[in-house]
Amino acid sequence: MQNEAWILGELDGLRERALERRLVVNAPAGGRIERGGEELVNFASNDYLGLAQRPELIAGAEAALRRYGAGASASRLLTGTLPCHEALEARLAEFKGHARALVFGSGYHANLAAITALVGRGDAVFLDRLCHASLVDGAVLSRADVRRFRHNDAGHLDELLRKAPARCKRLVVTESVFSMDGDVAPLPDLCRVAETHDAMMMVDEAHATGVQGPGGAGMVSMHGLQGRVNLGMGTLSKALGSAGGFLACSEQMAAWLVNVARTFIFSTALPPAAAGAALAALDVLKTEPGLGAALLDRSALFRERLKKAGLDTGPSTTQIVPVITGSNQGALDLAAALRARGILAPAIRPPTVPEGAARVRLSITLAHSPAELARAAEIIIECAGRSL
Ligand SMILES: Cc1ncc(COP(=O)(O)O)c(C=O)c1O
Repeated sequence: MQNEAWILGELDGLRERALERRLVVNAPAGGRIERGGEELVNFASNDYLGLAQRPELIAGAEAALRRYGAGASASRLLTGTLPCHEALEARLAEFKGHARALVFGSGYHANLAAITALVGRGDAVFLDRLCHASLVDGAVLSRADVRRFRHNDAGHLDELLRKAPARCKRLVVTESVFSMDGDVAPLPDLCRVAETHDAMMMVDEAHATGVQGPGGAGMVSMHGLQGRVNLGMGTLSKALGSAGGFLACSEQMAAWLVNVARTFIFSTALPPAAAGAALAALDVLKTEPGLGAALLDRSALFRERLKKAGLDTGPSTTQIVPVITGSNQGALDLAAALRARGILAPAIRPPTVPEGAARVRLSITLAHSPAELARAAEIIIECAGRSL
């Protein structure tokens, strides 16, 4: 089409900078994946506890599907609120130790809702510089003044809050486990600074929920900060093996969100099967509360092997382990070399990570056996030696 000619030029530009992305169809099975006719060990999954394929979750999804149908049929404020949503929200509130929880169609929706509901024009939102795109988008969409504090730097946050106009609402936003570096935020310090300046606090626990803290409740629970964090965001789509997102909060905050959160109001409710699977995942976590700790132990062993061989795993202390190459091409070369040896680990490039911080990102999951992890570490060390 004539008026789309500019797109070809833009795509050429992406290709030249090794930044073009393409879709590939996958068939996942446990810790492995079939992709382009090959079977590979899958280090690109966020199904950290290997729950997505567990019979309990499939049965939970199936029961909800049969009882309520394939779709929720309407948004929550119309006729979309079903008993499975109510049950899931009650369980999530209990799990996270907050008074209430509200479920959204995705974690992305939850983040857009949270920030746009709390701040607007004339207010200020303070984001960690490495916050996920969904948090950045929520901040931009809110029309509040967006300020970025240096990664995990409570002192810089304090400095920025001091400079903010006195009478505006302020919201501090961070992740507890960062999705690209696998490091953790100094939550008690950030909360203290936010309180000093009477700012609200939001923590995205997408990569901590199910893994960190008591029984997988996350790092806000681990530090006992529920009473000091206004919004605890989590996803159902990663360690909980389903789909959807949620915000855990106070009664009054939930009442406010139901009235103003646009992705809650103007989007069809979470499909019943996703709610059923998430409820089953919470049951699994209750009966097997040590899953997260087991994953962290396995990840630490894997990371130490890579570090000992001189690879740069950045500040990771969790199940997300980057191998930082710096250059985009270096990341692509390492990912290609690993693939040739049967390992799927994606190259992550700007704008997902800052310029000059390209990497191969490995997600360790409980679907990887200790022997498989030991073998994978050997292969990564060999390939990195040749391509870095
Ligand atoms: C930190 C963080 N927040 C939010 C999301 C969005 O969650 P979802 O995939 O459920 O939309 C993701 C993942 O995609 C994430 O990594």
